[in-house]
Amino acid sequence: MGNKSISNFINKLPKAELHLHIEGTFEPGLMFKIAQRNGIKIKYNSVEELKKVYNFSKLQEFLDIYYAGAEVLIYEQDFYDLTWAYLLKAKEQNIVHTEIFFDPQTHTHRGIKFSTVINGIKKALDTGKEKLGITSEIIVCFLRHLDEVDAIKTFHQILPYKKWIVGVGLDSSEVGHPPAKFQKVFEMVRKEGFLTVAHAGEEGPAEYVWDALRLLKVSRVDHGIRSVEDEKLLDELATTKIPLTVCPLSNLKLQVVKNMKDLPLRTLLQKGILASINSDDPAYFGGYLNENYLAVAEALKLTKQEIAQLAENSFKASFLDEEVKTRWIKKVDSYYEKIIQVK
Ligand code: ADE
Ligand code: ZN
Repeated sequence: MGNKSISNFINKLPKAELHLHIEGTFEPGLMFKIAQRNGIKIKYNSVEELKKVYNFSKLQEFLDIYYAGAEVLIYEQDFYDLTWAYLLKAKEQNIVHTEIFFDPQTHTHRGIKFSTVINGIKKALDTGKEKLGITSEIIVCFLRHLDEVDAIKTFHQILPYKKWIVGVGLDSSEVGHPPAKFQKVFEMVRKEGFLTVAHAGEEGPAEYVWDALRLLKVSRVDHGIRSVEDEKLLDELATTKIPLTVCPLSNLKLQVVKNMKDLPLRTLLQKGILASINSDDPAYFGGYLNENYLAVAEALKLTKQEIAQLAENSFKASFLDEEVKTRWIKKVDSYYEKIIQVK
């Protein structure tokens, strides 16, 4: 079974993406183009020079560069172009549904209006549905290195856009900023009917995953791979079916795992945990969704059945209606059956 066969299998597999920061899809080429039209000087002279700094030893090193990159985004058109470029890539990779994150505070702290950001993103997503047939949801994330008061301010900004936003998440520097710091604002968020998710157990300990479940009452945990350090937590995730959105290339590039072989994905699947594959910040980590599938498939020698399981999980863990979920899961199944018969 060659790599080509696996790669073909992955490419044509219908998939959902559930953990993607739209600011993390900002390709250097587009960054230079937008910087130029906005009259902003980037401190690197070329795309090649910029790419050379995409070498990270931990999350914070990446975040510093990622927030700097986002500073060239000023106008609604910029957010539209950013989102549209991702959607074209998603189409190419057979991503049929995507639930994207954005970080309002990264922009509002620079004087960009919340409405500018969300209008640009939403218009592109609507066009994506109409022209590319890709369905989508928006999840707004609070930056956990900022305080809860700032998150509450952001919460008030999102309220008028409630009908466009399915949920609220928590991202940025994890260690030292536990879920407990945002317990109050997450309660306000849930009371307004938003679903909640949170990054936990990426660099932070399994305890943060427990806290995301118990204190923030999340519907999904983003990353969560350090849950494997706690058997009881694995049992909890398996019985409650709270999904984990795993991001293999991200974990490798940020040195959360030393080697792709160390990614505990098979353990999670064998425990019956709803783990899916996602790209996190593909412009910075060397690959979009299919490259993430392929990297783990190769490292862990996943079978086509396991790969299909991961795609099924992506739909099961999504915020799609049950009926639509079932339809996509059947499509994954019949695609798998067809390929197996040909073999
Ligand atoms: N923001 C963008 N990518 C992130 C990640 N991998 N962890 C935490 N915050 C992020
Ligand atoms: Zn993330």
